Amino acid sequence: MTEIRRVGVLGCGLMGSGIAQVAATAGYETTVRDVAQPVWDKARAGIEKSLAKFVEKGKLAAGDRDAALKRLGFTTTTADLQRCDIVVEAVTEDLELKNSLWRELDARCGPATIFASNTSSLTIAAMAAATQRADRFVGLHFFNPVPLMPLVEVVRTVTTSEETFRRAFAFTQSLGKDPVAAKDTSGFIVNLLLVPYLLDAIRAVERGVGSVPDIDKAMQLGCGYPMGPLTLLDFVGLDTTYRIAEIMFTEYREQRYAPPPLLKRMVLAGMNGRKSGRGFYDYSVDPPRVIDLGV
Ligand code: CAA
Repeated sequence: MTEIRRVGVLGCGLMGSGIAQVAATAGYETTVRDVAQPVWDKARAGIEKSLAKFVEKGKLAAGDRDAALKRLGFTTTTADLQRCDIVVEAVTEDLELKNSLWRELDARCGPATIFASNTSSLTIAAMAAATQRADRFVGLHFFNPVPLMPLVEVVRTVTTSEETFRRAFAFTQSLGKDPVAAKDTSGFIVNLLLVPYLLDAIRAVERGVGSVPDIDKAMQLGCGYPMGPLTLLDFVGLDTTYRIAEIMFTEYREQRYAPPPLLKRMVLAGMNGRKSGRGFYDYSVDPPRVIDLGV
């Protein structure tokens, strides 16, 4: 059994950069592949900011922060990931895009390399089947913000070997995470339950049940959630949620996964939440201000 020493990450958006950060902090040589330098620059700046917060709070020594940053490299080519012992993919929820990268890597990586997808709604089996290593393919579903959220869903599909599952599970523990095992069904455990709740919150806005801040406040104070559902939607990204809902609706054909029209309109308008500056709230002001959606 090869020891995991080098970690590859495909994609350095919100999730990929968080995964790269925790891997580098845990002591792994980490190489992140994304399409262009401006994307890396943004990711590196986010990672530096997050690590600075941990140092500020005394949760990480300044020397360990510097060492973590030294272990972190960026590249545009999958060839630079060929020596990795595990590759975690966190690109857009697009099966064809993911599988084209997996096929490329499958030809480059050695037989011991484990492939792991951070997909939140696609089927692991559909990616494993695109490679010659379906037994060494697993799902590792992290949560946003990755450096703070302790959970990882470790997803075993029908072809995943027991050894791969055990190694992937242990890998997440070595990152300081507290994993659970989940079956390869769209949405796994968390999104199966979370996505209908988030979509229902949008439907509540459409129906005028309460104002956006009141719906958020109600769920925060009434249920003890750290964030209200509309704030959480802005945090996760409305475009991401829309894509996840579409995939889950196609899979289950159940109304509760159907993206509400308001979500679609907002995504079409580029109101993707915090990352785009506007969603249910306007983030160009501090504190963020609720946006009049005209509903
Ligand atoms: N790195 C380091 N530190 C960070 C950070 C980051 N990325 N983000 C926030 N922090 C720090 C803040 O600086 C703050 O520090 P202090 O306490 O010293 O001020 C601390 O964490 C708490 O942050 P905030 O005060 O800003 O806010 P908070 O108390 O609400 O905590 C939170 C933030 C942990 C994100 C919390 O609100 C929370 O748990 N929210 C819910 C998140 C959630 O549900 N995530 C899952 C989304 S679903 C998903 O990801 C999967 C999917 O497939 C869609």
